[in-house]
Amino acid sequence: MNVLFISAEVDPFAKVGGLADVVGSLPKALRELNIDVRVLMPYYGFIDPQRFNIELLFSFRLARPTGTTIVSLFSTTHEGVPVYFLRGLPYFGEEGAVYGDLEHDVPRFIFFCQAALAAAEAMLENGGWFPDVFHVNDWHTGLIPFLIEQKRQSDRRWSAASTMLSIHNMAYQGEDVGGWLWELGVPGRHHPQLVSRGLTDNMLAMATAYADIVTTVSPRYAVEIQYPYMGYGLDGLIRSRQDDLYGILNGIDYDVWNPETDPHLISNFNADNFPEQRSPNKRQLQDDSNLTISDDVPVIGLVSRLVWQKGIDLAVPALRRLLTGYDVQFIALGSGDEEYNHDLFRLGADFHWKARTYIGYNAALAQRIYAGCDLFLMPSHYEPCGIGQMNAMRYGALPVVRETGGLADSVENYDDDDATRGTGFMFQWEQPEAVYNTLLWAIRTFHARPVAWRRMQERAMRVDFSWRRSAVEYQTLYEKAAARHNTPVTDDEKREQSD
Ligand code: GLC
Repeated sequence: MNVLFISAEVDPFAKVGGLADVVGSLPKALRELNIDVRVLMPYYGFIDPQRFNIELLFSFRLARPTGTTIVSLFSTTHEGVPVYFLRGLPYFGEEGAVYGDLEHDVPRFIFFCQAALAAAEAMLENGGWFPDVFHVNDWHTGLIPFLIEQKRQSDRRWSAASTMLSIHNMAYQGEDVGGWLWELGVPGRHHPQLVSRGLTDNMLAMATAYADIVTTVSPRYAVEIQYPYMGYGLDGLIRSRQDDLYGILNGIDYDVWNPETDPHLISNFNADNFPEQRSPNKRQLQDDSNLTISDDVPVIGLVSRLVWQKGIDLAVPALRRLLTGYDVQFIALGSGDEEYNHDLFRLGADFHWKARTYIGYNAALAQRIYAGCDLFLMPSHYEPCGIGQMNAMRYGALPVVRETGGLADSVENYDDDDATRGTGFMFQWEQPEAVYNTLLWAIRTFHARPVAWRRMQERAMRVDFSWRRSAVEYQTLYEKAAARHNTPVTDDEKREQSD
């Protein structure tokens, strides 16, 4: 089975959010199941070829109604996974960031989708490898299932190609692309489900309608997006794909996220030797953050992209109240929208003797926060999967989360009456008061029930969040997708067709 993963973000080459983490680690787990997974991404200007050993494979011409572009395909192998990079000026090759403004990004990613198909054909000609399944992710690659559907009608090389869409976030869709598509000669998005809903100009909607299989990154989110509140206008379309819709919880990269070997920690630990081996990390974190060093004061951590989704607006008032009334400490790391950067920064400044906020991105510090805090706060308004809560649990920090999406699927709520249950604390109400009450509940448990707390930590550390579990589920779906278009075309036939 050949699978080409196509994504705008891939860790460690280009990362904005969780999408990069997934595409940077799931393919490794799939290759262990003997699936020939390769990855295709844009060759952004900021990616350093020396650092990653990136080499030119070949160049080809991509003719579109607006003109012809020379496209170059580069490649490297990263942790055993072949990764391809696509360069084509002026769309990809000079930029300093993954995303800019949407008006600019839409034509860039339409180009990426068109060039991805041309690259697959060129790969076939140059080396003979061709995907059975094109696994696209989010709106940036959303045109691909539609373009392949068109190709299937007219070009035998494509007759057995299947497509799978993974939705990592329903809120970003690539809307109103109709003008661009028209100009670029991409007509014919006549899918009845798109036409009847007025969604023919929406990249994520197109992928949802045309992909053989649609997945999202947790079972709970797969249900939530069928309702208007979380569906962002695509809930009806999603419901129409119910029979082909699956929710698979993401994993985390156990090679990176391992408290036993993590080089960023001053004291490594595991589920057998904590809390003794873990507590030096808490003290170090307090020290580094200029806070009082104490095992007895609960430390609340937060590591996040600072956008509305993450519920920073719920967290800040709750923390303000908590820091005013109780002996707790708070440490945050993240960056994003100006408003939230500012609110968190202010919180840190106003309570500088018991709170510290780092505005920015720092992977090593993130790992030290996971290993040093007692509670990890993630009050998301919505969360397709969420990765922080899983990292936190693996590092023995108990998550305080809103019961939504992947948070609900990965955290088990504590039960005051049953000390054998629970890996964290959960609430539903989207109000600061709910965050406040839940943090208070957690802090009281921390002080009053140390044994139950330790057991909870141990349970959290032992939950299996490795990719292996999810990879097996993806494998089944690849087979299902491939079976939809299994017209037997041999590689020789494919090559003949391309001559
Ligand atoms: C997006 C979602 C996040 C998910 C990630 C990876 O960033 O917001 O919940 O974990 O994608 O799938």
